[in-house]
Amino acid sequence: MAFERATVFGGSGFVGRQIVRRMAAEGTVVRVAVRDPESALSLKPMGAVGQIVPCFADVTDAASVATAIGEADVVVNAVSLYVPRGKRTYDRVHVNGARNVAEAATVAGARLVHLSGLGADTKSSNAYVRARGAGDDAVRAANPKAILLRPSAVFGPGDHLFTALGNLIRFSLLVPQFGGGRAYIQPVYVGDVAEAAMAALKDATHHGKTFDLGGPRVLNYREMFRLAVDMTGFNRPIVTMPFWVGHLVAFFARFMPTPPITSDMLYLMKHDNVVPTDAPGLAELGIAPKTLEAILPTYMDAYSRGGRWKGARLA
Ligand SMILES: NC(=O)c1ccc[n+]([C@@H]2O[C@H](COP(=O)([O-])OP(=O)(O)OC[C@H]3O[C@@H](n4cnc5c(N)ncnc54)[C@H](OP(=O)(O)O)[C@@H]3O)[C@@H](O)[C@H]2O)c1
Repeated sequence: MAFERATVFGGSGFVGRQIVRRMAAEGTVVRVAVRDPESALSLKPMGAVGQIVPCFADVTDAASVATAIGEADVVVNAVSLYVPRGKRTYDRVHVNGARNVAEAATVAGARLVHLSGLGADTKSSNAYVRARGAGDDAVRAANPKAILLRPSAVFGPGDHLFTALGNLIRFSLLVPQFGGGRAYIQPVYVGDVAEAAMAALKDATHHGKTFDLGGPRVLNYREMFRLAVDMTGFNRPIVTMPFWVGHLVAFFARFMPTPPITSDMLYLMKHDNVVPTDAPGLAELGIAPKTLEAILPTYMDAYSRGGRWKGARLA
C-alpha cells in the first residue's frame, strides 16, 4: 500500500532524505518541508517530474506547518537541532515544534511518524535528552496514534558520526578519545530507519507505538573509533583524553558555525545508548538490520585501498 501524498519535515536532512527516497520509490508525491527549500532541490531527481516538492516550513511556526501538510495522508517529522543558538532552542524545536507538527497532522487526519532519539527522557540532567523526552510526550498527547522512532546513533553515507570521524582521521595526526570511550552504543543503518518508518506506517497495528532502533552490534566508542580508523586505512593512534579537555574544546568550538564537538555530544559519550532488551524495535517491524561492516566500506574506503575518499559524500 503506497501513500498518495506525504509531507516530510526535515526531508533534506540525513535521515529525512532517505525517507523521501523510500516514499518516492513507491510513487508517493512528497513535500520536503524545510526552512531552506533550495537545499532540498537536489532531492528532485529521486522522483518523477513534480513528484518531490521542496517547500518552506519552520516547525516553530504553526501556520507554516499546517500549510506544508495541506492534504497529506502521511506526515514525518525528521527535524533536528543539535546546536541550540539564539531563538533556536531545544524546547522551541524539539518540544513546541514537535507539538505543532503532531497537532497539524491530527487536524489533517494524517498518519504521523515522529523521529526522536533513543533514551529520550524528561528526567535527564541533560537539556537535549530532556527536551527529546518532553517532545515525545507532547507528540503523544497531540496525536495518540503517532509512531515514535527512537534510533541510537544512525550511520550511512552523509552521517554525522562516521563521516565526521573519517574527516578527523584523515586530516589529523591522532584521534582524540574523550574519557576512554567506555560508553556503549548500537549504531543503526539509515536505510533501516527509513524502512522502519515505512513498515510502521503501513501496518495499523503499529500506530501509537514507540520503536527503539538499534543495529545488530553493540560496541563502545573505543571500538567504534578503532573500526573507523581501520575502515579509512589511515594509520592514526587513538589517544585517550580526559572529559574536561573535551569540555574545554567544546566551550571554544561553540562559536564555530558547525562545532565538531559540543557539551551535549560529550554527555552522550558518557552514557550508554543501547536498545533495552524488551523494547519493540526493528525485529517487530520485520527488518533485519544491516551491519556496520557491510555499509561502512561503501563510504569510508581509503586511498590505501586504491579507492577515493567518499566520507564526505552525501547520499
Ligand atoms: N543522525 C543521527 O545519528 C540520529 C540519531 C538519533 C536520532 N536522530 C533523529 O533523527 C531526526 C533527523 O536527524 P538528522 O540527523 O537527519 O538531522 P539533520 O541531518 O541535521 O537534518 C535536519 C533537517 O531538519 C530541517 N530543519 C531544522 N530545523 C527546522 C525547522 N525549525 N523547521 C523545519 N525544518 C527544520 C533541516 O533543514 P533546514 O535547515 O533547511 O530547515 C534538515 O532538513 C532528528 O529527530 C534526530 O534527533 C538522528
